[in-house]
Amino acid sequence: MIVLGLESSCDETAAAVVTADGKILSNVVLSQVEEHAPFGGVVPEIAARAHVTQMDRLVSQAMSEAGINYSDLSGVAATAGPGLIGGVLVGLMTAKAISAVADIPLMGVNHLEGHALTVRMTDGISFPYLLLLVSGGHSQILVVEGVGKFRRLGTTIDDAVGEAFDKTAKMLGLGFPGGPAVEKAANKGDPKRFDLPRPMKGRPGCDFSFSGLKTAVRTALEKLGGTVTDQDKFDLAASFQLAATDALINRMKQALKIYKSDYPEGSNIVVAGGVAANQCLRAALDKLADDNGYKLVVPPPKLCTDNGAMIAWAGLERLRLGLTDDLDMAARARWPLDPNAEPAPFAGHKA
Ligand code: KG4
Ligand code: ZN
Repeated sequence: MIVLGLESSCDETAAAVVTADGKILSNVVLSQVEEHAPFGGVVPEIAARAHVTQMDRLVSQAMSEAGINYSDLSGVAATAGPGLIGGVLVGLMTAKAISAVADIPLMGVNHLEGHALTVRMTDGISFPYLLLLVSGGHSQILVVEGVGKFRRLGTTIDDAVGEAFDKTAKMLGLGFPGGPAVEKAANKGDPKRFDLPRPMKGRPGCDFSFSGLKTAVRTALEKLGGTVTDQDKFDLAASFQLAATDALINRMKQALKIYKSDYPEGSNIVVAGGVAANQCLRAALDKLADDNGYKLVVPPPKLCTDNGAMIAWAGLERLRLGLTDDLDMAARARWPLDPNAEPAPFAGHKA
């Protein structure tokens, strides 16, 4: 089986071809970073227009790099949500057209399921596993029980952690996208210099909060007064990164209690989404897993940030189970993985 996967829910236009044994035949990702950089964040209208302009070309490139024809495809998958609706529509409509013309099944994939199932493509791990999903739009802890079967243990009650990285980078003038810039600066800084809060630490449950940490970075910056040196920025980036990591680890400790008692057969902890590329977070999770007798599984950095291969793979998993979609499938701006979980009070689309 071979599936083409399209991704266009945020600021990456991506197309990839993946086989049922997890081989990535092509994986083309076009970042719109430069288009959004002057605004310090993703502008939905600019994103949608860029997806429209690039998607056809990227699909052709992914197909030719894979060295296959449309008649070789077993199905076509696209992100059908959640995300910026204009962009989601571009990928989903393209996939519908390919499905109709090539007469192959369509799979509308939940973007978060794409992130969640990537480790099954890269490492072949089995269900269930405990997943920390951390990206620019989402911070969640879930138990992945199966394809389309998720139990949400915790979510952010305000900002996503990737958003906090991006805003910290903006305040420190480190550029966009913020995560990699903060990490690079943090590597040259002292994480103990600024005493920043660890939001939600010690509270019951597994929910996160990051807006207070963001405000604390701003306050620390203001206290430094007019002259902020590069070293000040490095130290503040390092202190922020450590505080965010500590906060995430504390919430994961809570989640581990539930995972241990309710899923004794589970042996893996997984981290996915753009922020999973962060080495400080990875090291802390590795230690947490080790201390508790679990194995930490992390996709390679290129597959942590948005890409088409994760959508193709999630599509393959669905196709294998006969979970295909009709051509009238609607794009969705909001699409929680666990429909039984209560939306978090102030999280908006991030719940
Ligand atoms: O999963 P993703 O590519 O897109 C969304 O679905 O949101 O995640 C992007 C997020 C951005 O907020 C970016 O700053 C963050 O992931 N990110 C990182 C790193 N690389 C990307 N955050 C911290 N450290 C990194 N190395
Ligand atoms: Zn993502």
